[in-house]
Amino acid sequence: MRLSPAAEAIPASGIRAMAALAEGKPGLVHLEFGEPGFFAPEAVRRAAARAVMDERIVYTPTEGPQDLQREIAAKLKRVNGVMVDPEQVFVTHGGVGALYAALASVLGPGDRILMPDPGWPNVLGQVMTLGAEPVFYPLEAAQGFAPEPEEWPAGGRLRAVLVNNPSNPTGALFGREMLERIAAFARKHDLWVISDEVYDEIYFGERPVSMLEVYPEGTLGCFSFSKTYAMTGWRLGYAVLQPGMREWTGKIVESCYSSSSMVAQRAAMAALTEVAPQEIRQMVDSYRTTRDAALTVLEAAGRKRYVPEGAFYLMLPVPRGVSSESFARLLLERKGVVVVPGSTFGRGAGGEVRISLAAGEQAVAEGVARILELTQELEQGAAHLGL
Ligand SMILES: Cc1ncc(COP(=O)(O)O)c(C=O)c1O
Repeated sequence: MRLSPAAEAIPASGIRAMAALAEGKPGLVHLEFGEPGFFAPEAVRRAAARAVMDERIVYTPTEGPQDLQREIAAKLKRVNGVMVDPEQVFVTHGGVGALYAALASVLGPGDRILMPDPGWPNVLGQVMTLGAEPVFYPLEAAQGFAPEPEEWPAGGRLRAVLVNNPSNPTGALFGREMLERIAAFARKHDLWVISDEVYDEIYFGERPVSMLEVYPEGTLGCFSFSKTYAMTGWRLGYAVLQPGMREWTGKIVESCYSSSSMVAQRAAMAALTEVAPQEIRQMVDSYRTTRDAALTVLEAAGRKRYVPEGAFYLMLPVPRGVSSESFARLLLERKGVVVVPGSTFGRGAGGEVRISLAAGEQAVAEGVARILELTQELEQGAAHLGL
């Protein structure tokens, strides 16, 4: 009996692998999951409870209910500064569902898509499931994890570019000028841009510009309630499609999971209409405080390298000659800290580990201090051995 080529080829999640290694070991500092440490806002929880008690929970339209589509369109205008027709909004099973809906709507077997390296690995699995071919563009630490769109390879069966802004795993944020350079490349080569903006409301300086604003004619936007509202387990997101695309994307989503959860839809409606912006800002402020605590520890050791401007992640280099997997395992065994090896996110990050700033100030400050301890021990050991 054979498995499908995708089932065989998709790499297992390195994030889950580290969590499995850590399982059952008490007293560890957990910095692996991109998981807000908060409850979803009370209004969200109450709306879900009301729905469960007072309504029949049934299938909904594949693209989600119209009132939620309208409310999401209003949010896109208010928060992201983009005007879309509510019929372009497609409610999905998490941000990951939005990405799949977008990718499966435009990519076929053999089509190519440019993707960031390092990048969030689940999208790679989706691309492989579709039989499409990933072509990676580097995000180098030395360049502040910014790409060079003018150097990207074009032509052949290249159909799309994936952009993730703000970025998981780097926390880097591309400004308008960078998005315009990407849009120029996409326009020139007639490409879709799949824009993963699930961290659109988690930023520490200027509000991120949406690709939907810069390249409105070719962008498929992917958003989520998971990060902004601490709703990871609720599984609700949305894609912003091009006008007239809904029918095609509907066929894809209908065949995958019919519709997203009605309970989560009711909760999302409350998130958009009842949660005060202040409540979101408080969560974001706590990520900023945590980021700053990590940077203070790094700076004191003379090892500060860059400042994440969005999402809630920080990449840290491992000593030369040590793989990110070995470092992550040693760190777990010797220092009791769980991080994700950079290799999980692509070849370009084999000399890095990722920590999640959502773990909270104390855990992150302690974790970074222990990472630096191990780094120093390994560097001294290497020096001692003349490596
Ligand atoms: C960059 C990126 N895109 C998409 C997602 C998926 O979001 P969701 O949890 O809503 O499916 C994540 C989740 O971690 C992510 O980090």
